[in-house]
Amino acid sequence: MSSPYFESVGVIGAGTMGNGIVQVFAMHGTQVTMIDSNPAALERGLGAIEKSLGRLVKKESISEDEAKTVMGRIHTGTDISDLKDQKLVIEAVVERMDVKAAVFSRLDEHMPADTILATNTSSISITEIAATTNRADKVIGMHFMNPVPLMKLVEVIEGHATSAETTATVVACSEAIGKVPVAAQDYPGFVSNRVLMPMINEAVYCLMEGVATKEGIDTVMKLGMAHPMGPLALADLVGLDVCLDIMNVLHDGLGDSKYRPCPLLRRMVAAGQLGRKSGKGFYDYE
Ligand code: 3HC
Repeated sequence: MSSPYFESVGVIGAGTMGNGIVQVFAMHGTQVTMIDSNPAALERGLGAIEKSLGRLVKKESISEDEAKTVMGRIHTGTDISDLKDQKLVIEAVVERMDVKAAVFSRLDEHMPADTILATNTSSISITEIAATTNRADKVIGMHFMNPVPLMKLVEVIEGHATSAETTATVVACSEAIGKVPVAAQDYPGFVSNRVLMPMINEAVYCLMEGVATKEGIDTVMKLGMAHPMGPLALADLVGLDVCLDIMNVLHDGLGDSKYRPCPLLRRMVAAGQLGRKSGKGFYDYE
């Protein structure tokens, strides 16, 4: 894709989603600058990309030389001022409005006026994030799915003021990195999490009420509905704290009791059992 929006992009946040986004752009020929204020997080992010590329080399999806070329397209920095004149910047920092607001107002100050500022938020309102900038027409949601290198979807979410031109550019960029973009409007949970999270929450209710064992619940959904993994294993992959946050957003934003988070989900989060990232969730990962 010969577009200035695609030649060089910035990604803020080197965590699971951030480094996955960096990897897919770099694999499609884009120079990517990954920014994280924590140098150790940058190192971990680069390590995760190397590991993921290593899996692709092992599968012979790419050669070792290609993996090296991809790594050569990735640059890092610890501050937004390390970004230069990228026309697209994607934010993938922690899901907290105060943190996102600080990132977006700095990006708005530092980046050229025509740069599109995208957010990978899974649940915060795009319209609210856009309102922290002076370019709401150029703020948009680019919601990638975990694991980013493998999942084909990018949910493209238009805030109240996002321009049609911004949406068209982001749709074209998503296609250029081999993803399938689907447009959605800015309502709580968009489409993906509004449908997925109540299913996960209901699976936790089934477990809490003793309807079946965790393995039983997951097997029903894998073998009966051809899901690649069961809802409880998926909750462990996503993070139980993230699932709880999103259920709270649905409950608050839509006001319907059907979105009330399951008490067992709350209890596990309170106990620090957050899934894969904490070593224990519904399953053990230690
Ligand atoms: N990079 C490269 N390759 C990877 C990888 C990565 N990050 N992760 C897994 N793989 C490869 C493995 O090497 C393996 O390759 P092989 O088949 O050649 O051996 C293959 O993918 C399958 O991996 P595994 O054998 O480890 O495990 P699975 O067969 O269970 O597949 C999965 C893993 C792709 C995660 C699959 O289970 C799946 O699709 N699960 C559903 C994921 C999902 O629903 N994601 C969306 C979550 S919701 C979200 O992100 C939104 C947010 O807002 C909450």
